[in-house]
Amino acid sequence: MNPLRELKIGLTTLAMRSVVRGLALTGDPVATVLGRRALADPYPHYERIRARGEVSRHVIGLYLTAGHGTGKAVLRDPRFGVEPAVDHGGVDWNREPGDEYRLVHPMEQSILTMNPPGHTRLRHLVSPWFTPSALREFTPQVHRIVEEALDAVSARARFDLVAEFAARVPIQVISALFDIPAADQVRFARWGSVLTGTLDGIRTMAERRAVHRTVSEMTEFLTDLLARRRTGAGTDMISKLARSELGESSQGVRELVALIGLLLVAGFETTINVIGSGALRLMRDTELRTALLDEPELAAPIVEEIMRLEPPVQFTLRKALEPVTVAGQDLAEGAMLVVLIAGANRDPSAFPDPTRFDPLRANVRDHLAFSSGVHYCLGAGLARITAAAALRGLFQRMPGLGQAGPARYKQTRNIRGCSTIPVQHTGTRISLGG
Ligand code: HEM
Repeated sequence: MNPLRELKIGLTTLAMRSVVRGLALTGDPVATVLGRRALADPYPHYERIRARGEVSRHVIGLYLTAGHGTGKAVLRDPRFGVEPAVDHGGVDWNREPGDEYRLVHPMEQSILTMNPPGHTRLRHLVSPWFTPSALREFTPQVHRIVEEALDAVSARARFDLVAEFAARVPIQVISALFDIPAADQVRFARWGSVLTGTLDGIRTMAERRAVHRTVSEMTEFLTDLLARRRTGAGTDMISKLARSELGESSQGVRELVALIGLLLVAGFETTINVIGSGALRLMRDTELRTALLDEPELAAPIVEEIMRLEPPVQFTLRKALEPVTVAGQDLAEGAMLVVLIAGANRDPSAFPDPTRFDPLRANVRDHLAFSSGVHYCLGAGLARITAAAALRGLFQRMPGLGQAGPARYKQTRNIRGCSTIPVQHTGTRISLGG
């Protein structure tokens, strides 16, 4: 990369970080959430942001909402849209001239950052694999994957619940959907953690280089995979997409690479965190665990409450595509509004006594953890099936599972979840907390 450009990006990042740090020192809740001090418990800061108004304008120019009704309305409002992170962050991932023709970033160039009608066309292409009937057919495979992961860990007295179970299951589920061999899964885990780590923004040159490397590797891997499957007779998702009309042109192949890359990363980086947060909750709450063991069908609403109280995606961003008034605030065209999903999910006007864990709430599925509107998570059904099967299976197989040390959280603000949860598997319950 041009050293002058590298220096300019480095200085811009440094300046932004200094502003955020300075504001955080004054107790500003937005800067606190953007900084690292709130990682242990960001939720009180979302409350403080909601207390400033249903929609508030922050000094750095962003609008925010932590209100459930407003957040949901914004996500469903066609006057709001999305745009690639690079266009509003002022920083990029080390793109070289010409990379725009060579590389495909699965988050920045996929449906996640596209508005209708382009978004609708591509989403329709993959939605057949996520319909209720397709998921019903796929569910036995999910159960088999969970059972095999449990076989591997249940023979051991101690293990890391995140690395050896919560991460393994969703990666294998998405690999099964793509019909990709287990040997590729270590790379997937690395790619996923690099890309989701940068959802907070890219802070260092080292991070930029890591993203560039990851995007290069993913583009090459997925382009080769599509080329190989195009000539075969496979009936898996990738083979069918490769043989579709898009597979015939290089632009079409780029669109497929972005779509499959997004499914790959979005498909496991989020579900891991629900399984981790859910297991933590169930290890600490004996009553809840007993209820799950007595009534295995409680797994589904338990997953919903985990998603509401510990959403793996804590916030998302929308851009006003035209002048719009939201909750009394006039937003100009181009204004950026942060929907604090994690704040909206604890809005007492939607969820009375919001911090109480209650899988029997009448509106238990009404959280915004899967977003809402046109970008509503395509994999929500699959994530629900996977997380419920994993949590139910885990405690049925190891009812005495307990923490063997403190859980640690990922150092990311947009994606929330544990990076490690040491556990012990004995006949009796052990809980060290932390
Ligand atoms: C618990 C697990 C999951 C959570 C919390 C989650 C969360 C989300 C959220 C919040 C969005 C929308 C972001 C926005 O509105 O800006 C989203 C979109 C998406 N998710 Fe998920 N997700 C999960 C699992 C999955 C799985 C398993 C897959 C696929 C196998 C998947 C695929 C997608 C795709 C393709 C989109 C883009 C949809 C669009 O833009 O139209 N997700 N997800």
